[in-house]
Amino acid sequence: MTARRERELPLLSTLKLTMNKKAKILVVDDEAVIRVSLHEWLTDAGYQVFTAGNGSQALEIIQKEELRIVIADLVMPGMDGIELMKKSKELSPNIEVVIITAYGSIPTAITAMREGAYDYIEKPFCPERVELLIEKLVEHQELIEENLSLHQKLDDRYRFENIITKSSRMQQVIEVIKVVAKSNATVLITGETGTGKELVARAIHSQSHRCGKPFVAVSCAALPESLLESELFGHEKGSFTGAYTQKKGKFEVANRGTLFLDEIGEMSANIQVHLLRVLEEKEFTRVGGNEPIKVDVRVISATNRDAKEIVGNGQFREDLYYRLNVVNIELPPLRERREDIPLLAQHFLKKFALENQKEITGFSPEATDYLLRYEWPGNVRELENAIERAVILTQNPFIEVADLPQQNLPPARPISPERNLKRVEKNHIQNVLTEAGGNYTKAARILGITRMTLYNKARAYRLGVKKIDKS
Ligand SMILES: Nc1ncnc2c1ncn2[C@@H]1O[C@H](COP(=O)(O)OP(=O)(O)OP(=O)(O)O)[C@@H](O)[C@H]1O
Ligand SMILES: [Mg+2]
Repeated sequence: MTARRERELPLLSTLKLTMNKKAKILVVDDEAVIRVSLHEWLTDAGYQVFTAGNGSQALEIIQKEELRIVIADLVMPGMDGIELMKKSKELSPNIEVVIITAYGSIPTAITAMREGAYDYIEKPFCPERVELLIEKLVEHQELIEENLSLHQKLDDRYRFENIITKSSRMQQVIEVIKVVAKSNATVLITGETGTGKELVARAIHSQSHRCGKPFVAVSCAALPESLLESELFGHEKGSFTGAYTQKKGKFEVANRGTLFLDEIGEMSANIQVHLLRVLEEKEFTRVGGNEPIKVDVRVISATNRDAKEIVGNGQFREDLYYRLNVVNIELPPLRERREDIPLLAQHFLKKFALENQKEITGFSPEATDYLLRYEWPGNVRELENAIERAVILTQNPFIEVADLPQQNLPPARPISPERNLKRVEKNHIQNVLTEAGGNYTKAARILGITRMTLYNKARAYRLGVKKIDKS
């Protein structure tokens, strides 16, 4: 086998490749002849090439260099190619590994691919196959990077603090946030569950002069009355059974910062009285204490209940309601700002794909249609959870309807201009591509879009063209 390699490998140096000259490649093989030949050939082709004789040496190089491509022999003494691949991906998740396998060992090659190899090369090397493979791999990595930076730019345009939106109603909310952040006014944020109330409260805090001080969130629904009182105002040692030490309340902890009172609709009448006093006098006493404690806290509160209704039916004090509601921010449900759905879906896709180290670039047209039609009673949180689940479950580079929770969708609107438009676009792109003989550069010029946009659309519409031409 070695003699055969020696015969075959010099052929490789005759290859003329148009590859990304900056890419770094690591060749790992216990046989010197393979290392030397691949090193010489790939260096001639303009790459920066590193070599290692075994897995541990390889991992050291990976740690030091910003490597993106590893070509590793499957069978090596010590760490084999698959183990090396797993360890490399732990060190650097973006690394792609090409495994060198023995001639005719297809099952092993399949195992390697299942374990996460980008592809495999069979010995003895076929120069054309290596050329195509590396070219495809570099292109694939460039595409992912371009997609990521494109999404980054989009995110920045539609991001304020951590709020992602392009809807005009939410833009109005952002304008209010900017203005109100400069004041100390109390803010009551209302909106259905999962619409982003806490996110908005945090944005106000981050934009205010209090941003370097604590942001403290308390859920008024999470604790029974007696515990909530001590949670908010603290207690003195021995003030009740179990109060072994003195404890500061959240009002003290949040001093000079912001206190976010969530679900105020659940607050008891007694606590409402205490709260009213702090807001009016800027001081309070700990449970079981007599000393008034002065605090400078900005209070933001939230509820997903109808605030006017709970005031109207006597559940909530009217005077406290007006104190808390100097400025009201009403967050629209997601179904009333559907233009945010694709943007948020893409944002969560990127976030969870990165977290789970998966390469998922988008949604199939059917999945997008599903996301846009579903009512999202749990709003952005429900969408976020659905995308996280889909990212974890999917085996495809695109999220499909089958990856999303099976919900009853409202019937498709009888006349859906968007769907029709998509069909027209798909057919048009297909026709132009055929007319251009599959040449993307030519087709993109005719269509008046960039080659990358064309490539993305062709993939989204599954036009069945896999390669971007380099012309
Ligand atoms: N516009 C947005 N952009 C990005 N993420 C968002 C947006 N709105 C909400 N989220 C995310 O959705 C989730 C729910 O948001 P948040 O906790 O602020 O909602 P909420 O209105 O306080 O919900 P609840 O009433 O159930 O307490 C969070 O993970 C949040 O980061
Ligand atoms: Mg909340």
